[in-house]
Amino acid sequence: MRKLWLLAALAALLSCASEKKQDEGASKALVIFYSQTGATRAVAEELQKQLGADIEAIEAVEAYDGDFQATIQRSQQERAEGVLPEIKPVEADLSQYDVIFIGYPVWFGTFAPPVESFIKNYDLSGKRIITFCTFGSGGLDSSTADMQRALPDADVVMGYGVRNARIESAPAEIEYFLKSNKMVEGEVDLLPDYSAPQPVSEEEIAIYDAACGDYPMLHAQPVRVGKAATAAMTYYLYEAEENGQMLKVKVQVGNEEGAKPEFTEVLRAI
Ligand SMILES: Cc1cc2nc3c(=O)[nH]c(=O)nc-3n(C[C@H](O)[C@H](O)[C@H](O)COP(=O)(O)O)c2cc1C
Repeated sequence: MRKLWLLAALAALLSCASEKKQDEGASKALVIFYSQTGATRAVAEELQKQLGADIEAIEAVEAYDGDFQATIQRSQQERAEGVLPEIKPVEADLSQYDVIFIGYPVWFGTFAPPVESFIKNYDLSGKRIITFCTFGSGGLDSSTADMQRALPDADVVMGYGVRNARIESAPAEIEYFLKSNKMVEGEVDLLPDYSAPQPVSEEEIAIYDAACGDYPMLHAQPVRVGKAATAAMTYYLYEAEENGQMLKVKVQVGNEEGAKPEFTEVLRAI
């Protein structure tokens, strides 16, 4: 009889332990973000929805509520003075999350200052940090590299970024990003690798110009290009020269007749 009790107690203990393990395994991710004009908020909310994550906005005590020029000026002045904006206390208990998605608009090639305040004020050591951002032309790569340097005790990995001009593409791209990285369940057809870069043809220069010609902050000339194609889309990775510097420019074009080439991202941290 005593033996039976012991066995029952052991079974109860084991089942508790396995439930605990399941709970831990299912622990939610946190999506935390700063957004000045709403683009990064839209991406954060889509991530929250697809991940079933918790979400919180980072807010500056003195909001950046000026227009683009006023924000540039304030931000440049703060940078010159080495001042970081004070942020409101974050409500989430960060110790409850192993995985934290940190989102921001790219400002001057890196994460916006309220996010710098956040990562300075809170202990993120031992966390898996996944970056995401929105930008005029690019900066996911450079801002992630900056965050890796700023958080050497965290495991910072590059997540998802989108040009604000293409924000309507974010839900489908986020689904691809999360599924292809096994962050949520589901199958996706993986995009093929780019071919080795070759000197650009006239036709490829015309595609580059059609995609990027209107964008005022990019003055690069394409030199080489690698390509990849699916049934729906052709992807171009241009190597381009801007003021003696090489950078990479991503362009994509739908395979249907008359599709307009889209400029999707500039990679400058190469
Ligand atoms: C002060 C400032 C600096 C910026 N710097 C960059 C930049 O270096 N690269 C870039 O691609 N976009 C830059 N942008 C554009 C923003 O990244 C872009 O508008 C972003 O989508 C805004 O996100 P939000 O709506 O979440 O605030 C800058 C915008 C501001 C206000």
